[in-house]
Amino acid sequence: MTHLPPLKTVLALVLGVAGLLLGSSALAQTSLIQNAPARRVLSLNGSWNYIIDPYENGFYDYRREAFDKSASGKGGYYDNQKPSTAQEPELIEYDFDHSAAMQVPGDWNSQDPKLLYYEGTIWLKKSFKLAPVAGKRYFLYFGAINYEAHIYLNGKKLGMHQGGFTPIQYEVTGKLSPNGENFVVVKADNTRHLEAVPTINTDWWNYGGITRDVFIAEAPETFIVDYKVQLAKGNLSQLTGYVQLDGAGKIGQSVTLNIAEAGIKQTLKTDGEGRASFNLPAKKLKLWSPLSPKLYAVSLSNGGETVQDRIGFRTIETKGQDILLNGKSTFMRGISIHDENPLIPGRARGEGDLRMLLTWAKELGCNYVRLAHYPHNEAMLKLADEMGLLVWAEVPVYWTIAWQNPATYQNAETQLSDLISMGKNRASIVVWSVGNETPLGDPRLTFMTNLVKKARALDDTRLIAAALELHRTPDNVIHVDDPLGESLDLTSFNEYAGWYWGGKPSEITKYTFDIKYNKPVVISEFGGDALAGYHGDADTRWSEEYQEALYVNQLKMLSTIKGLRGMTPWILADFRATRRQHPVYQNGFNRKGLISSTGVKKKAFYTLQEYYRQQAAKYDSGK
Ligand code: GCU
Repeated sequence: MTHLPPLKTVLALVLGVAGLLLGSSALAQTSLIQNAPARRVLSLNGSWNYIIDPYENGFYDYRREAFDKSASGKGGYYDNQKPSTAQEPELIEYDFDHSAAMQVPGDWNSQDPKLLYYEGTIWLKKSFKLAPVAGKRYFLYFGAINYEAHIYLNGKKLGMHQGGFTPIQYEVTGKLSPNGENFVVVKADNTRHLEAVPTINTDWWNYGGITRDVFIAEAPETFIVDYKVQLAKGNLSQLTGYVQLDGAGKIGQSVTLNIAEAGIKQTLKTDGEGRASFNLPAKKLKLWSPLSPKLYAVSLSNGGETVQDRIGFRTIETKGQDILLNGKSTFMRGISIHDENPLIPGRARGEGDLRMLLTWAKELGCNYVRLAHYPHNEAMLKLADEMGLLVWAEVPVYWTIAWQNPATYQNAETQLSDLISMGKNRASIVVWSVGNETPLGDPRLTFMTNLVKKARALDDTRLIAAALELHRTPDNVIHVDDPLGESLDLTSFNEYAGWYWGGKPSEITKYTFDIKYNKPVVISEFGGDALAGYHGDADTRWSEEYQEALYVNQLKMLSTIKGLRGMTPWILADFRATRRQHPVYQNGFNRKGLISSTGVKKKAFYTLQEYYRQQAAKYDSGK
């Protein structure tokens, strides 16, 4: 006879599980609104008060119990408590409005000298006026917060997000105060963790904080939450995609897709899921390419709202060792870029910083950029569309990730899904990269291969890549047979002959390549440091002449690769990195930039620029 547990125990268990589910769903982020910045917004950029909280006093009580998990949910800095007018004001040991302020978007490391190396919690608070309108829906949107964020509106928790480079969004309909007086509080924590993505060890500065735009998006009760409008895979005259509605009236609704300049106006009807898919002939499209970055005004309307976007149409595919852009063979003349303004070190702060970086890439003769090593700002992707630059977009699955931790994989897959969701309408993006320079091993191969499968499932129209591992043999052969390469569309690898190994620049042309895969080869990195203004001969390490000789000989050596179809040398500009501690040549900067941290072009810049001029003459004139 089995004894059932007492009813009250079963009830407690059921309620407990329900509470957990409700709790997590109540705190779950809503699916990302496509092209969120295009929705009517109230920007929350600007001056935010902040409190540095290395002991997390604003989150835990002295017994290390989280305030926001207590019965009242109160007690943390997120209450933004003010002394009452009572004679005996309560003891409150913080006050945002009398605390320092910093600019958002903006990392804290570059805004306060005492925070340059800070890793831990900083609370940020912004008060704002917004009186909600009946029948409208509201979403609080952050372009990125590095690394873990707990987010509260008017003292109530919205959720917790991990991942320092992808958008964060919570629906706040019904949570804005009727009188319009609101405040948002963020607990941002850039502490590094072994099981995080990226892990504890990287070669870039761990900039913490709210590093991209913050705004409130407004939408009608039933609105266009997502859409994709692109060319069908490998078909230059067929548009395909979908429009997804959200809200009570999402089913059976008419949605109009209008691309006036292409003579396309189509009324669609949403299905039982609120989704309308389409496949439309599009004979007269002017294709997008770096030489001719044509963008069409695309509008989607469901009666309640009209969403405008500017979308380019192109195809990208490989054929043997060739890369075909719109069916034509191309060579990807690229450069790697970090999301950092070298002139005012810190995360790129806005469109001005981004346009400066991409303008330098164009000056170099690029038609392609590798946005390393994490998702960049959505505005960067739109600029690449506008300026005609192909993009390699990447998630920070970098170096020694905790391959066997399921939560780590889930984190990586979520960041990849959010990146693809954000970038799927951008013609410039031609490559999704699932990681960089990850050490060989079965757990790593399983982890990365699963990411490849996920990327293909989400978007089969773009190339999938990763920076693979290589190994050398005493006969000076560089072997590229990393098993991860089997599942990728490109053979890409980071190769540092002449800097980390292989002798002086003049000696590296001794190497030959043995590449296992019959796929296009796009070198993801090569390069070497040079301190701008430091001159010597071609054998003087750290001099501009050494870096110049390294580029001359690298280009000679790489040109022997039959399937070479592109490259993104490391890197456009010097960038901050804590690993780089030589007091004369580095001072906390990785000096592999072709442009210095003061904007000076080094000699190697012109070496690569000339090589790209020759490649352009060969490929772009259709030879
Ligand atoms: C690695 C890595 C980069 C790093 C570079 C370097 O390949 O991918 O993130 O900055 O080499 O050592 O400078």
